[in-house]
Amino acid sequence: MALQVELIPTGEIIRVVHPHRPCKLALGSDGVRVTMESALTARDRVGVQDFVLLENFTSEAAFIENLRRRFRENLIYTYIGPVLVSVNPYRDLQIYSRQHMERYRGVSFYEVPPHLFAVADTVYRALRTERRDQAVMISGESGAGKTEATKRLLQFYAETCPAPERGGAVRDRLLQSNPVLEAFGNAKTLRNDNSSRFGKYMDVQFDFKGAPVGGHILSYLLEKSRVVHQNHGERNFHIFYQLLEGGEEEMLRRLGLERNPQSYLYLVKGQCAKVSSINDKNDWKVVRKALTVIDFTEDEVEDLLSIVASVLHLGNIHFAADEESNAQVTTENQLKYLTRLLGVEGSTLREALTHRKIIAKGEELLSPLNLEQAAYARDALAKAVYSRTFTWLVEKINRSLASKDADSPSWRSTTVLGLLDIYGFEVFQHNSFEQFCINYCNEKLQQLFIELTLKSEQEEYEAEGIAWEPVQYFNNKIICDLVEEKFKGIISILDEECLRPGEATDLTFLEKLEDTIKHHPHLLTHKLADQRTRKSLGRGEFRLLHYAGEVTYSVTGFLDKNNDLLFRNLKETMCSSENPIMSQCFDRSELSDKKRPETVATQFKMSLLQLVEILKSKEPAYVRCIKPNDAKQPGRFDEVLIRHQVKYLGLMENLRVRRAGFAYRRKYEVFLQRYKSLCPETWPSWAGRPQDGVAVLVRHLGYKPEEYKMGRTKIFIRFPKTLFATEDALEVRRQSLATKIQAAWRGYHWRQKFLRVKQSAICIQSWWRGTLGRRKAAKRKWAAQTIRRFIRGFILRHAPRCPENAFFLDHVRTSFLLNLRRQLPRNVLDTSWPTPPPALREASELLRELCMKNMVWKYCRGISPEWKQQLQQKAVASEIFKGKKDNYPQSVPRLFISTRLGTDEISPKVLQALGSEPIQYAVPVVKYDRKGYKPRSRQLLLTPNAVVIVEDAKVKQRIDYANLTGISVSSLSDSLFVLHVQREDNKQKGDVVLQSDHVIETLTKVALSADRVNNININQGSITFAGGPGRDGTIDFTPGSELLITKAKNGHLAVVAPRLNSR
Ligand SMILES: Nc1ncnc2c1ncn2[C@@H]1O[C@H](COP(=O)(O)OP(=O)(O)O)[C@@H](O)[C@H]1O
Ligand SMILES: [Mg+2]
Repeated sequence: MALQVELIPTGEIIRVVHPHRPCKLALGSDGVRVTMESALTARDRVGVQDFVLLENFTSEAAFIENLRRRFRENLIYTYIGPVLVSVNPYRDLQIYSRQHMERYRGVSFYEVPPHLFAVADTVYRALRTERRDQAVMISGESGAGKTEATKRLLQFYAETCPAPERGGAVRDRLLQSNPVLEAFGNAKTLRNDNSSRFGKYMDVQFDFKGAPVGGHILSYLLEKSRVVHQNHGERNFHIFYQLLEGGEEEMLRRLGLERNPQSYLYLVKGQCAKVSSINDKNDWKVVRKALTVIDFTEDEVEDLLSIVASVLHLGNIHFAADEESNAQVTTENQLKYLTRLLGVEGSTLREALTHRKIIAKGEELLSPLNLEQAAYARDALAKAVYSRTFTWLVEKINRSLASKDADSPSWRSTTVLGLLDIYGFEVFQHNSFEQFCINYCNEKLQQLFIELTLKSEQEEYEAEGIAWEPVQYFNNKIICDLVEEKFKGIISILDEECLRPGEATDLTFLEKLEDTIKHHPHLLTHKLADQRTRKSLGRGEFRLLHYAGEVTYSVTGFLDKNNDLLFRNLKETMCSSENPIMSQCFDRSELSDKKRPETVATQFKMSLLQLVEILKSKEPAYVRCIKPNDAKQPGRFDEVLIRHQVKYLGLMENLRVRRAGFAYRRKYEVFLQRYKSLCPETWPSWAGRPQDGVAVLVRHLGYKPEEYKMGRTKIFIRFPKTLFATEDALEVRRQSLATKIQAAWRGYHWRQKFLRVKQSAICIQSWWRGTLGRRKAAKRKWAAQTIRRFIRGFILRHAPRCPENAFFLDHVRTSFLLNLRRQLPRNVLDTSWPTPPPALREASELLRELCMKNMVWKYCRGISPEWKQQLQQKAVASEIFKGKKDNYPQSVPRLFISTRLGTDEISPKVLQALGSEPIQYAVPVVKYDRKGYKPRSRQLLLTPNAVVIVEDAKVKQRIDYANLTGISVSSLSDSLFVLHVQREDNKQKGDVVLQSDHVIETLTKVALSADRVNNININQGSITFAGGPGRDGTIDFTPGSELLITKAKNGHLAVVAPRLNSR
């Protein structure tokens, strides 16, 4: 099995996957372990994931170096204990996907690489399990990524939390409130193209099941001066440009607007209405859609946009001075639109823009304004209209986000998660009232941070039963007091200056400050400073030594901004507005209220106190955002800028507090799980309590007593180097463990494979054996049945055919036939024939005949004409002599020859005498005289017509076949024969007595030629023949031992012939 490790763009290993099978190792705590190990071992490459592990934790250089190393690897997140430090990458790192969200869900904070989602999930789980309200405080300079982080957090919750049973739209509203708020509250600045120009605290309410059910937003100090003025390279709030770019023609016409932003004085100050990175047209669509999601009716949208348009028209209101230097409105058209859009009376508005109403001793006096004052009043109105609309908008969103179930019992069990996206420390070349407020806000938050961090540290020590050691840190309470203390604080003095009768100016405020506070270690003015520092301070400036560093503020505008006055008649005019939103923003009760409204600083102070209370009641989590460069460039690490932020965010201070005690702490289980392999007693598993296991382990590792402390549930390690030494030991140990595990795994793997193969083999074998056995058994059964049938058939073989003997009978028949096929007679002479069963006797005979016929037919077909002739002659011979003459059997094996004398042996004269008659057969013979029986050598010739007896060259006697009446021979073994001739023929000399060595052959030929087959007489005893006219001769034959032919005394020819065969 191959382990696959998936890398995510942060460069850290997060997941181990197997393509087909989920690998057990990757799941649960083991999966975490793999991740953690790889992450920790990668520490040399990418610095430390947690600044508390920096050896040199007091060194700012080391801190920044660690940030730099990680930033170079696109690792934008690093912890300081539970605090997340984030560096804006200015590029999409693809680290906020759904996959990433899943990765960070339900895992322990420290065991995965640092990530915003780790914070999000930890916070959420604490909220659910401990049911305590939580707050994530996101701080950092403008452009450092606070808003982005807030959005990512919201997105995380919207996507990963369960949907509420009712009102699932809350999630959408939570997400969609963002673009609307951003359109009205964000603007392009030099630092950030989407800079939030207000502080935001957002509460998300979760029901007891952890589903988001509602939300609430608090906004802080919108930078309303932007409505009327923007620095070079900056823009007004996005909504103006979005409306002009994206609004439909018809709408713009209704609002009396032109598409070109250059036409509006409030939009041209920064000279950059168009920015390539911002797509106003698209954003407009997003905002329009979002407005619907957050419950805006069409009318409300129209009213809202009317106000936006009226601000633009207000900016284009011009004044001219009359003879008395009083301002007069010159732009009637704008006034007309304003009247309509704001739903106010034209004359009232005109008067309000050019006059100031003073109430003196109950009497109202109208005093005309000069040009400058009129412009001031106009701008004040624009700012007030816009900022109050913004406040209204926030309220409106809150109504939309409010849980609809607020009255239900489950409402009481909701928990709240707060997200604070608020401006970080600001230090500019020129710092004014706004920076003063913002930096004060940061002081308060730092104070809260110290309080909460120290408190939680202390609580952890207490919970773990470890003695609390006082931590050396700078407590900024003194600065907070300097700003907010009653009577003596800067805000009090400022308010006093604003409220007191008489000629109060920014400079009188500064003097008052110097007088009241005098020698405070954190306040410096030109007057209070010593010789050396005085040079760096202007006369209208004061310097605060904030916890994060020095900031010099110019007092110019302090009073004015703090007062934030809107002339009464302008207020009155607005109160009469028929635009429903305006009438809600300007309440008549404001007019009758005799009390002066709270100053801006005091309002801000109050809202901050309220915020601090809100945050205090919650469990805090921190995200500290850092901007790596001013150019919004990815990959650029501007060290000076970053050092500045590290300082102003108080990160070193954070680290010092965190490191005051112990650098590292972990639950015993986690610690033991990770390092147990380093000690023989804890490896491979520890049976006892984890705490005891850790004790054994650290003793084995040789930790010195001052290096660590054992708490109730955690081990505390004081120095990072102790942990790193342990980590290095683990690295070494892991190598050998890995080898062992690999070997064991391979062994296991192959053994499993072997077992599987073996199992399969056994399975196949047994199956095959079974099959064979079954086949054999079947065969046997069949055999037994056959034999049984056979025997039964045998027993009943004589019974008539019935099912029981049918088989046997058939078998006998078949086997007879088969046997017959093998044992057929080979030739006609072979008489063998198998004995047939009774039922086949007839068939057998028929077959036998057939067979014989066949053999004969075959034989006949195979013989030559000569042989045929031979056989025919032999057959004739047999017919004549068989069983009749003794020397016949001797002749049988001797072949008949066509002729026994060649033509050369026959005299030519004889041939001549025969003429055309061919000689069919010639044989030498012996002729016995008729009288004396003298033997004489003669030739016997057969022609087609006659038998010719030849003596040398002379034809002695010619017997025509017609004259040949018969032939006589004895039955003995002699070779004499008599040719009987027709007696009437006188030419004939009488019968002829002849002797041939081939008597059978010769006689057969003669009989055939002369057609006298039936005329051969075989005589026993004697033969009588005609010897000549009137004289007969007799030949007597007697059996004897030897052939003897003699003339007997009685005149007969006596022939003694040996008996060859006993007949
Ligand atoms: N985590 C991030 N990943 C990628 N880009 C970011 C991230 N954080 C911030 N940015 C970029 O920086 C810009 C400024 O961030 P923003 O959150 O508006 O800053 P802030 O609210 O702190 O002023 C964003 O518009 C975005 O382009
Ligand atoms: Mg922002």
